[in-house]
Amino acid sequence: MNKRRDTTGSFVRFPVGFLWGAATSAHQVEGGNRFNDWWAAEQAGDLPFRSADACRHFELYESDFDLAESIGHNCHRFSIEWSRVQPSIDTWNDSALEHYAQVIQSLKAHGMEPVVTLHHFTNPAWFAARGGWEHQGAPEAFANYVSRVIDRLGDDVRYWLTVNEPTVYALQGYINGVWPPFAKSAWARAARVTRALARGHVTAYETIKARCPKSRVSFAHNALHMEPCNAGRLRDRIAAHCRDWIYNELFFKLIRIAGKPKLDFVALNYYTRCSVRSQGMGLKALLGTACKLEHHSGQGMRGTMGWEAYPRGLGLIAKRFAGLGLPLFITENGFATDDDEERRQFLRAHLRELANLVEAGIPVLGYLHWSLLDNYEWASGTLPRFGLAETNFTTQERRVRDSAGDFASVCRDNRVQL
Ligand code: FCB
Repeated sequence: MNKRRDTTGSFVRFPVGFLWGAATSAHQVEGGNRFNDWWAAEQAGDLPFRSADACRHFELYESDFDLAESIGHNCHRFSIEWSRVQPSIDTWNDSALEHYAQVIQSLKAHGMEPVVTLHHFTNPAWFAARGGWEHQGAPEAFANYVSRVIDRLGDDVRYWLTVNEPTVYALQGYINGVWPPFAKSAWARAARVTRALARGHVTAYETIKARCPKSRVSFAHNALHMEPCNAGRLRDRIAAHCRDWIYNELFFKLIRIAGKPKLDFVALNYYTRCSVRSQGMGLKALLGTACKLEHHSGQGMRGTMGWEAYPRGLGLIAKRFAGLGLPLFITENGFATDDDEERRQFLRAHLRELANLVEAGIPVLGYLHWSLLDNYEWASGTLPRFGLAETNFTTQERRVRDSAGDFASVCRDNRVQL
């Protein structure tokens, strides 16, 4: 029997020190982030929902960490809001950095390892106004901000994520046109932004490692498992391959220095799969479209976002990225639903996949569920409920869901039932 199985054979024991917890991002939970581009777009009516107070986590972080500790978490991912630290091009707000220093101290006092994201979709309004990541000074501006953060917080944090989901950022803002700056099918711009984010990552990586050599740095990759809608159709296979290359490979290529991606671990945000169907001509045919027909094998629940639960994809994605020869870290995985029983099933199935990976000897540092709380889910507002705890957005009360209780036993016992 495998050494990770317990004596009954029905549990996989996880490595000592495995990191269990949840992830959040500043704009989605803090509230009042009035100096960033999302806030500006929300006030201008360019987005259907406003973040407003969100979860008021900026003030309520202590009690939110009490909650996370009470459900067994030993790790927590959050993001620093750049626009709080640098509200205008020549203003640095040290009190914002002090706030985040306290957040980190509080996490540690609650027995949780902090995982800190430096850029999670939002930009300071001044940065966006001068062209955002298309401005030629963007990577340097980001690096300046990162230096400030590292000077103050570098010694207290081991795990850093430079940028969250650069591919999603470029796609939603420059191709789909649903997030700021709302550009549609602007492929050249999307390419420029992606390259700038890659440079931003590399400079941030170097800045962090120069000051804190022991830290472990990565970016968070949204790993979408691609497959041809009809495997017997050559066009679908080619489209799935091209889409996969752009979505899951390109950024890793752009951050290579001397043939190796500048990463200490591979941070994967995994939610779903995409069945690729090639139709029409030209670019559309080459990249295909996401097939919405519900005719695929092993079809899972879809939840509020319409994202199909596909646990097997977690295993497939993880094995593939393990090929980079670095430890993996699942930095997001979750399901939006109003039915907590669905979340419970989602968790159970994905944790089983994770257990199979660990049992197979694939190095995994941790698993962070998206999210601790129901929050502001970008252009979908507060409708999708991703939280292990429910947020009442009127009273700001939290209520721990039953699924969080199941997950708590996993975290506390450091083992998963097969
Ligand atoms: C991820 C984002 C995160 C959240 C989840 C549902 O792509 O990183 O902020 O919106 O999706």
